[in-house]
Amino acid sequence: MVPQRRSLRPMDLPPGPRAPAAWQTVAWMARPGAFLRGVHERFGDPVTIRTYWTEQPMVLFSHPDAVRQIFRLDPAIAPAGQSWEFLRPFAGPHSILLLDGEEHRRERRLIQGPFHGERMRAFAPMIGELARRELVTWRGRVVTLERARHLTLEIILRVIFGARDKREVARLRHAIESALADVRSLPRMLAMALVQRDLGPRSPWGRFRLAVERFDALLLETVARRRAEPVGDAVLDLLLEQRDEHGDPPSDRHVRDQLVALLMGGHDTSAATLAWAFERLARHPAVHARLRDGDPEYLEAVVKEILRIRPALTIAPRLLLEPVEIAGRRLPAGVQVAACLWLALRRADLWPQAAAFRPERWLDGPQPNPLSWIPYGGGVRRCAGAPFAEMELREVLRVAAGLRLRPVRPEPERARRSLLVVVPERGGEVLVG
Ligand code: HEM
Repeated sequence: MVPQRRSLRPMDLPPGPRAPAAWQTVAWMARPGAFLRGVHERFGDPVTIRTYWTEQPMVLFSHPDAVRQIFRLDPAIAPAGQSWEFLRPFAGPHSILLLDGEEHRRERRLIQGPFHGERMRAFAPMIGELARRELVTWRGRVVTLERARHLTLEIILRVIFGARDKREVARLRHAIESALADVRSLPRMLAMALVQRDLGPRSPWGRFRLAVERFDALLLETVARRRAEPVGDAVLDLLLEQRDEHGDPPSDRHVRDQLVALLMGGHDTSAATLAWAFERLARHPAVHARLRDGDPEYLEAVVKEILRIRPALTIAPRLLLEPVEIAGRRLPAGVQVAACLWLALRRADLWPQAAAFRPERWLDGPQPNPLSWIPYGGGVRRCAGAPFAEMELREVLRVAAGLRLRPVRPEPERARRSLLVVVPERGGEVLVG
C-alpha cells in the first residue's frame, strides 16, 4: 500500500518551489534542463518538487555522498518497481522493471547473462553494419531523433529478437510501433492505468489491449520459432538458454517480458542519446574532426561526455516505505527520493566547466570522480544494458565520424521530455553532406 500524499506535512520535507504541481509538471516536461537548474540554484541540494509524474512529492539529491546512500537503500524500504506500476499492462508481470528484492535479483541475474564480455562483443559487427546501412541514406536536413529511433529499433529487432528476414522485421516493427504509440504518451498511459475498463474495442483501453494482444501473439510466435530453430547469434537465443536455480528453462511468457523490458529500457534511451550526440557533434566540429582520426580512446571519451552532458534519464527514483536519513536529512515515509542524474552530472563543484562539451576532460589531467558519472543510475538497479548501450553508441559514432555535419540553426537545442527520456527539442536536426 502506497502511503498517501496527504499524510506529509511540507515542514517534514526539504524546501522547493511553491508553484502548483500543474505548473511544475509543465516545466518538468517542457523544459526539464532549465527547471532542474532553476530549482537547484534557488533551493540547493536537496530540493523537493511536486509534479503529476508521481503521486508523492519527490526529494532530489545530487551530491555524490547522498547519491551513494540512495543507491544503497534496502529495496524493502525503498523499492523502485512500484514507480513503474503503470507500465504493467505492457511490461508484463515478470518484468524486471516492476520487481523488487529477491525476485528482482533473480531476474537480473537471468537478463544480464547475454550482456557480458565476449558474448556481447560478438554483436558489434552486426550493429556496425546496421548503422552503416542507416547513415548512408542521410542527406540534407535530417531529424536524427526519428532516424535514431528507427535504427535502435532495427538493432533491437535483429540483435536482440533475432529477426532475420525483412518481412519478420517489418511485422514486428509495425506491432511494436502501434503498442508504443500509447505507451509513449504518459498522460494516456496513466489515465488508462487508472481506468483499465474495457468499454469496447474503440475505447482507448480497448484499443490498447488489442494492440498489446496482437503484439504479444507475434512475440510469442517469435519466441516459439527461435526455441525450435535458434538463429545462433541473437540475445534471444541466449535468453532461451537460461536456467533458474532448479535447472528449469523460462516460460515463453517470461521470455516475452524479458524482451519487452529490453525494448523499453533500450530503445528510447539509446535513440535520445544518439540524437544528442549528433546535436553536439554538429556544433563542435573540432571534436567531430578528432573523432575521424579513429583513436579508440577518444571515441570512448566522446561517448562518456555525451552521456554526461545529456543523460537520457534525469532521475533514479525510489519510494520510501519507512522514514530514512539521507545526507543528514530525515525524510518521512511516503515520499519519493531520487538521485538526480542530470544535476549530479553537471555540478560546478564536481565538473570543471560543467556546461562545456569537452571529451578531453576524460583524457587530459586528473580523471573525474567515477562516483559522479552516473548516467546509468547505480546500485542493484543500475542499467542492465549499459555495456550494450555503449557498444551501440561506439559503433554508430564510428560510422558518424565519416559524415559531414552542420547544425540547422547555430543555437544549441534545448531539452524536452518525451515520456521518460530527455530529447533535443527539435529532434537533433542536422544538415548532412
Ligand atoms: C544510453 C542508453 C541508456 C541509458 C542512459 C540508460 C539508463 C538507465 C537508467 C538510469 C536506469 C535506471 C537505474 C536506476 O533506477 O537506478 C536503467 C535501467 C535499465 N536499463 Fe538502461 N539505459 C540505456 C540503455 C539501455 C539498453 C540498450 C538496454 C537493453 C538493451 C537497457 C536496459 C535496462 C534495463 C533492463 C533496466 C532496468 C534495470 C533494473 O531495474 O534492474 N538500457 N537504464
